[in-house]
Amino acid sequence: MTENQNLESLQTPGAVFFIFGATGDLARRKLFPAIYSLYREGKLAEDFAVIGVARRPRTHEEFRDDLYRSIQEFCRYKVKEDDLETWTKFAEHFSYKSLDIHNIDGYHELRDLTESVEDRFNIPGNRLFYLALAPELFGSVSFNLKKGGMLASEGWHRLVIEKPFGYDLSSAQKLNEELSQVFKEEEIFRIDHYLGKEMVQNIEVIRFGNSFFEPLWNNKHIANVQITLSETVGVEERGGYYDHAGALRDMGQNHMLQMLTMIAMEAPSRLYPEDIRDEKVKVLRSLRPYESEEDVKAHVVRGQYKSGESHGKEMLGYRQEDKVDPDSNTETYFAAKVFVDNFRWAGVPFYIRTGKRLPVKTTEVVVEFKQMPTNVYLGQKHNLEPNLLVIRVNPMEGIYIKINAKKPGSESKIEPFAMEFCQSCQVGINSPEAYERLIYDAANGDSTYFTRWDEVAAAWSFVDRIASAWAKNPSDIQMYPAGSWGPEQADELLALDGFHWWPVNGQEEDNVIWIKQ
Ligand code: BG6
Repeated sequence: MTENQNLESLQTPGAVFFIFGATGDLARRKLFPAIYSLYREGKLAEDFAVIGVARRPRTHEEFRDDLYRSIQEFCRYKVKEDDLETWTKFAEHFSYKSLDIHNIDGYHELRDLTESVEDRFNIPGNRLFYLALAPELFGSVSFNLKKGGMLASEGWHRLVIEKPFGYDLSSAQKLNEELSQVFKEEEIFRIDHYLGKEMVQNIEVIRFGNSFFEPLWNNKHIANVQITLSETVGVEERGGYYDHAGALRDMGQNHMLQMLTMIAMEAPSRLYPEDIRDEKVKVLRSLRPYESEEDVKAHVVRGQYKSGESHGKEMLGYRQEDKVDPDSNTETYFAAKVFVDNFRWAGVPFYIRTGKRLPVKTTEVVVEFKQMPTNVYLGQKHNLEPNLLVIRVNPMEGIYIKINAKKPGSESKIEPFAMEFCQSCQVGINSPEAYERLIYDAANGDSTYFTRWDEVAAAWSFVDRIASAWAKNPSDIQMYPAGSWGPEQADELLALDGFHWWPVNGQEEDNVIWIKQ
């Protein structure tokens, strides 16, 4: 195979990418930079076009200026003085259409523009519709795409949609019914951007590619699993959306449960999309449902940040944030103890937590192994700690394992050593952004890292029980100061079982000796 053939096999098939919501934040921060990175890496050949769609009037040139600014600000590749020729060639693939998404005539004009770019760039009618829009609009845009003739071309048609997919199970079902009148399940790509993260995808390899781990990956050897998705930011300018959603719906129903499935799933028979998704949905179906309001109260903690100090700066409380109800009882934090009731995991608690205005931004999974018996060290001073495998997803990427070993030179002193593989510290490793991977996969029809309808539905049925118990006692929420680790009740969840949250994001424990590469 020649180098070029090799590159070709990595390239997406020619397609037009429609970005609905092209003047919005997601397009500017994530989608344009992702497309440019794919182009720079040769994964996008010349037979592609992007049509930005939004209500606002804009000329093609103005749109390309927006594109340029977005790339200079947010892309891991910048346009340099000496790449101006490549830049111009890239930017020519972009056009803009101002559209009132409820007006069918506009879709006819969009179809004409599409056919002209397909002719120009030799694209065989493949169309990918990325809806970076409010979910209420997904259904009507899909209908209008069909009515307006946008799905009549030869070639494939795919719909990529952002979360949230519904507000609860019944609204998600309704949305799914609407979409499925226009698109088949295999044409719908539901984004959960956590699944596009390099280290989340690496969980499969760490688990199924290492005989160190897989044989121990069960309730005989694992004491508990801790998943932390902490953020330092507050709700920023998204108060209107967030006050309606809260942490459970914003992070729990999707990112957290998806990460849990990656940790808990059985090995698929092959690394094929449906085989992997079949295994993930089994985990979601095995989650032990909370039976009553008391059950929710005993196992789930919810909190909201009040004013406080973070990194030396005074922070407003959530209720003082823009577009947030001053009496809001929406949670900005939750922690839960979850059980996966199947043969592998029976009895192993999964502790999950997420929150805004916490001390650090990090996503980490800690797998705590069961303690070894200490009888052999009877009468000796020892410091035997449980082994840990820690998967760092973001912003540091890598893993470390914590083991016990004899302190060199000492009589028989045992100390914990942490051996770290820090992927993000390696010079020259510049992990692709989640959106690069996801756009590339959607264009190639690979749905592995997108959520299938049955996964979404199972996650909602689990989450709905928590939400409805909370709705009955709206004021029963714990306040935590901005910049702290959340309500103390979250520590008690673990303490009751004899565990504690392990430090995250390199907040190293004093007694551990670190061996870094
Ligand atoms: C989004 C949530 O899905 O994920 C945001 O809506 C959150 O509230 C964000 O801030 C976190 O993503 P990341 O990739 O920065 O960890």
